[in-house]
Amino acid sequence: MGKLLIIGCGGVASVAIHKCCQNSEVFDDICIASRTKAKCDAIKEKLEGTTKTKLSTAQVDAGNTEALIALINSYQPEAVLNLALPYQDLTIMDACLATKTHYIDTANYEPEDTAKFEYSWQWAYRDRFEQAGVTALLGSGFDPGVTGVFSAYALKHYFDEINYIDILDCNAGDHGYPFATNFNPEINIREVSAKGSYWENGGWVETEPMEIKRVYNFPKVGSKDMYLLHHEELESLALNIPGIRRIRFFMTFGQSYLTHLKCLENVGMTSIEPILYEGREIVPLQFLKAVLPDPSSLGPRTKGKTNIGCIFIGKKDGQEKKLYIYNVCDHEECYREVGSQAVAYTTGVPAMIGAMMVLTGKWNKPGVHNIEEFDPDPFMDALNQWGLPWEITDTPELVD
Ligand SMILES: NC(=O)c1ccc[n+]([C@@H]2O[C@H](COP(=O)([O-])OP(=O)(O)OC[C@H]3O[C@@H](n4cnc5c(N)ncnc54)[C@H](OP(=O)(O)O)[C@@H]3O)[C@@H](O)[C@H]2O)c1
Repeated sequence: MGKLLIIGCGGVASVAIHKCCQNSEVFDDICIASRTKAKCDAIKEKLEGTTKTKLSTAQVDAGNTEALIALINSYQPEAVLNLALPYQDLTIMDACLATKTHYIDTANYEPEDTAKFEYSWQWAYRDRFEQAGVTALLGSGFDPGVTGVFSAYALKHYFDEINYIDILDCNAGDHGYPFATNFNPEINIREVSAKGSYWENGGWVETEPMEIKRVYNFPKVGSKDMYLLHHEELESLALNIPGIRRIRFFMTFGQSYLTHLKCLENVGMTSIEPILYEGREIVPLQFLKAVLPDPSSLGPRTKGKTNIGCIFIGKKDGQEKKLYIYNVCDHEECYREVGSQAVAYTTGVPAMIGAMMVLTGKWNKPGVHNIEEFDPDPFMDALNQWGLPWEITDTPELVD
């Protein structure tokens, strides 16, 4: 049915490519293009013969708009799924605009030299995408992504207004290393070492990194420490969910991870300021990434489950109402199915589903849109079908 260009060939892309190949009726032709073509060739070789999807590969520098335009013009995809790094969002959006090609990503733009992520840069493309008649779907991973779809679904079917949302991201997986990150270490450490913040009564409340801690008893996982972080979907949900008074995001971290992170911070290893080392400029955080385990190598070692979901409190027919929608995913089952751990799986599956929504025309809204702006129903059905079944309860434990 459709041709998709996938940019990037890391942990998340690997899962999305496996899932596209399971879904050949929609994705009958995909091209995998990344900085290191050998990685694209390796996954093509692994999957060819197991799928009806036609696979091709290419080398591309996703930071170079002209190179991207040339690739899009030669391959002629209907949509581009950006699974490279947040630094490349704008160059890829520029190329999609120039070629009138739909765009999907999983993370908002972040300048490489400033650890700051927000939607303003990508929202500035709204009019141009609308005029070009192409859709940009922002944030089609799990968080952002499924958390926005859960919010739109809760609003559509269960609430007249939602006043409070707590997004809870629990990874109870154990990979056996004292310290490793479950997705790109540079992006992950930039995110968790930043100041925290949450949205309340129309404004942002800022906290010190990891200042707010809660303990939560996650269904099917158990009791875990979780910490309040800033997270990108807070920004779009604060605008798109009417009646909202407060949105917070919590992520679980084990004590070993936090102790190592504090130590690395204290010695300057998480800094993004370049330093001179033996006459050469290096960025400490990029050097740290090079010595940490590659997240894609964690798959065979990781045991345990993730539980990610949203607690909603609001009103229906004048009565207060509570709801918790969540997904539980098992690291070992993910590895058996696609050769990756659950953090990559819970991002790669929604990335495939987002691309499917756009390619099939179920979601067709020229402009630049966050995921909660679309009809959640077909996406919720697809989550059940493609490996991320969700559960719903109206008696959740609440977070104080
Ligand atoms: N929404 C969510 O729930 C969620 C969760 C996790 C991750 N994410 C996002 O998912 C994306 C992928 O994460 P990941 O863990 O898969 O990262 P990763 O394993 O580091 O993969 C990134 C891929 O992008 C390629 N790349 C980097 N710079 C490039 C360039 N200039 N040109 C072409 N290709 C380039 C890399 O190439 P090389 O192989 O040559 O290094 C690599 O294949 C990130 O944006 C991350 O923030 C979203």
